[in-house]
Amino acid sequence: MYIKIIGAAAGGGFPQWNCNYKTSQNAFNHCPNFSPRTQSSMIASSDMKRWVLFNASPDLRQQIINTPELHPAKNGGLRSTPIAAVVLTNADIDHIAGLLTMRERQPFVIYATSRVMQVLQENPVFNVLDRSIVKFKTLSLSGETDIVGVDGNAIGIKLESFAVPGKIALFLEDLSKQDLGSQAGDTIGLKITGLGDHSSVIYIPGCADVTDQLRQKVNSEDVLLFDGTLFTDDEMIKADLGPKTGKRMGHMSMSDIDGSINAWQNCKIKRKIFVHINNSNPVLNDLSKERALVENAGWEVSYDGMGIKL
Ligand code: MLT
Ligand code: MN
Repeated sequence: MYIKIIGAAAGGGFPQWNCNYKTSQNAFNHCPNFSPRTQSSMIASSDMKRWVLFNASPDLRQQIINTPELHPAKNGGLRSTPIAAVVLTNADIDHIAGLLTMRERQPFVIYATSRVMQVLQENPVFNVLDRSIVKFKTLSLSGETDIVGVDGNAIGIKLESFAVPGKIALFLEDLSKQDLGSQAGDTIGLKITGLGDHSSVIYIPGCADVTDQLRQKVNSEDVLLFDGTLFTDDEMIKADLGPKTGKRMGHMSMSDIDGSINAWQNCKIKRKIFVHINNSNPVLNDLSKERALVENAGWEVSYDGMGIKL
């Protein structure tokens, strides 16, 4: 299987369109150690011909233009795409808005939990995806799924989907409830395995806590792609960017005592890579001490165009 990160940033992207904070400003100014990143998405394929898109970001059109693997096949007919299926890990804007880019009567299959499917079904703007052309398939919270294209044929990518600690999409939060109205299936992780592979990619772009159950999903030859939203839980508050902690947003920090570096430290795993990185996160500066800290702890910081071969 081959994986490519086509968008390494969290919601808002890097730089964020309305942000004057120093990280975004350095990216706007083309400072070489602040590489811009588009919003959270990646692709996987076993044959380098048919691709699965994991999360459809608001930057999808630009991501397709930036990614030769996703261009229409030269011999593919007047309308053509190598994207056979789209898998969604939650219903946040950074993961579903790109579906609206895919509205030009192109057949493909969408996979999501019933919770996320309900969001798409209840919002009439997604009726732009004509159900007689685009197929919707519900992912269970346990068990395996062989991804198929619209012709019903398996394309050589297998998924195990599982609920992870997290929360409901930002625009659906019920502020009268302690858990904001969140339920299992609002946020999932995926174990992704290609045809004939003996190892997998564990993809968890949003996660509020690493449980023992999550750690058990991972084998020593696997690659972990994990929520890298914030470096410290209170970094947005300290930077005056907003009132919320990472925990309130359903994200773990990288470096706090209860953060992801510690949580995964004793887990044997081949590669650990941060994805979904918020524009406030100092690791986006290649030369920062925070970047050195995560790299010394054995983590990589993903970037747009990063390829991972299993
Ligand atoms: C998140 O990951 O917390 C969301 O993408 C927030 C958002 O939708 O802006
Ligand atoms: Mn997000």
